[in-house]
Amino acid sequence: MNGNPFDLDDAATYQRWRERKLADAPAKAEDLIVEVSDPRALSAAEHGALIERIRRCNMAIYAGRMLDEDPDVPRRLGAQFGLQRLDANWLAGEDGISEIRVFDDGTRKLYIPYTDRPIKWHTDGYYNAPEWQIRGMVLHCVRDAASGGDNRLLDHEMAYLLLREEDPGHVRALTQPDAMLIPERVDEQDGVRPAQGGPVFSLDPDGHLHMRYTARTRSIAWKQDAATQAAVAALGRVLAGDAGPVLHAHLAPGMGLLCNNVLHDRAAFRDDPARPRLLYRARYLDRIA
Ligand SMILES: [Fe+2]
Repeated sequence: MNGNPFDLDDAATYQRWRERKLADAPAKAEDLIVEVSDPRALSAAEHGALIERIRRCNMAIYAGRMLDEDPDVPRRLGAQFGLQRLDANWLAGEDGISEIRVFDDGTRKLYIPYTDRPIKWHTDGYYNAPEWQIRGMVLHCVRDAASGGDNRLLDHEMAYLLLREEDPGHVRALTQPDAMLIPERVDEQDGVRPAQGGPVFSLDPDGHLHMRYTARTRSIAWKQDAATQAAVAALGRVLAGDAGPVLHAHLAPGMGLLCNNVLHDRAAFRDDPARPRLLYRARYLDRIA
């Protein structure tokens, strides 16, 4: 590729990329769905259909019929897309794949993902050190909730596009290495860790766009300059827009999200005690190949 669309000084490459991106954007979450017979061993056609969607918008949803409680399903699915290096979260199971369900006791019930409460817009691992960024993710549904628990999704490249359209200064502000600061020790999700600052938008060594973000207002400090404040407000408006590029997805049993760590949230939910919601989450340092 000549030029990089994420270079603010390369307007020509950006314009070509922008037109393609807008033309290819999915209109609804259903456009992301690919029926598969066995996510552990995809056919070439199923694999190709998933990759085609990921190329367009960094995400795809597979719909299979594997309803077993088996973390090997997301692991083997991910491996077919070059996702190998799992992020070993200390709260995750020993194999590095987290069970996302309501925990009534133990440490995990203190952390929002392990409750039935809503989770605000974010990318996974936004609090991680720069050399330990989450680039790929699989979220596999074994059982859904009696009601609620849906996800909103937004391709982080589309968020970039919308911000750059409004004002390239937003992108410049959010690329600053000190745009966001996660203070020491105050994140409910990960407990004790040192203060961690970093950019919202950055480029991987291979030129791909990476994004770190959380809509949380506690345990995060945004840079206090006017440009950063304006950019964060603009991003908030993009994410609040329920029309347009924000997709609404419901993962039913056997379905899963495969993505390059796009922006997402989760609605509150209510469990059926007889079959409580269970998802497996696998986070990777790798991007989908
Ligand atoms: Fe997440």
